[in-house]
Amino acid sequence: MRLAGKVALITGGARGIGRAIAAAYVAEGARVAVADRLAHEAAETAAALGASAMAVGMDVTDVASIAAGVAAVEGAWGGIDILVNNAGIFNMASIDRITVEDYRRQYDVNVGGTIFAAQAVVPGMKRRGGGVIVNFASQAGRRGEANVTIYCSTKAAVISVTQSLALELAKDNIRVNAIAPGVIDTPMWDVVDAQFAQYEGKAKGQKKREVGLAVPMGRMGMPEDIAGPAVFLASDDARYVTAQTLNVDGGNWMS
Ligand SMILES: NC(=O)c1ccc[n+]([C@@H]2O[C@H](COP(=O)([O-])OP(=O)(O)OC[C@H]3O[C@@H](n4cnc5c(N)ncnc54)[C@H](O)[C@@H]3O)[C@@H](O)[C@H]2O)c1
Repeated sequence: MRLAGKVALITGGARGIGRAIAAAYVAEGARVAVADRLAHEAAETAAALGASAMAVGMDVTDVASIAAGVAAVEGAWGGIDILVNNAGIFNMASIDRITVEDYRRQYDVNVGGTIFAAQAVVPGMKRRGGGVIVNFASQAGRRGEANVTIYCSTKAAVISVTQSLALELAKDNIRVNAIAPGVIDTPMWDVVDAQFAQYEGKAKGQKKREVGLAVPMGRMGMPEDIAGPAVFLASDDARYVTAQTLNVDGGNWMS
């Protein structure tokens, strides 16, 4: 029960990695707000987790929506100790196909969502005497990838945002770290696989098999593989860890 008594808000908590983290946090004694723009799916995820979970409809590209969600959780449970900035989207495009709309959308969700959700919870964390923020970067933020210019750069930005916020908030007893997953089998990877199929002329499912075999540990990760590190970073076991981006990728990246 490493998170007993804690309140966590997880953006993008309805499915994939966010849902696995929500389940792990509840198992460790936390109350968890499953915040997602898919309000119906967030409600299903929260219902499956029982009385320690609540659903919050939230679009992290909309500061009013973030504010309303944070207010709902603070009103119900008195405050927020842990923010997991997990909501993210992926889209690939070669330089001739990049659009302004796609550029803005991915930056608004992946970078803006991280910054403005943090902005919304930090005042409450300061009032409570501290808190923890766990951001979601990616191995895609560690190095570029052909035809993935926008997504990769958003994830590099998340690593940078994590460092700056950690330095700014250390005096307030708020730790800020990130996780950089490798290739994790979630609904997002169905999108990734389909897009690589288009760009690289691969059969459906082929890219997914290839990236799994290329992992030093020999397989894609499962959402549950990310949950343990996310518990660690949120817990007091990580009390002297801040400004870090932790690779959780079966050995894909070394830093
Ligand atoms: N799956 C991977 O291989 C992988 C690898 C590296 C990093 N990541 C990152 O991990 C995080 C979770 O990825 P996943 O694979 O579970 O993705 P997913 O697509 O399976 O789930 C993402 C969730 O975020 C929600 N979301 C999207 N836009 C939102 C918005 N504007 N407001 C609120 N919620 C929104 C979605 O509705 C969904 O529930 C993302 O930040 C992703 O970039 C994933």
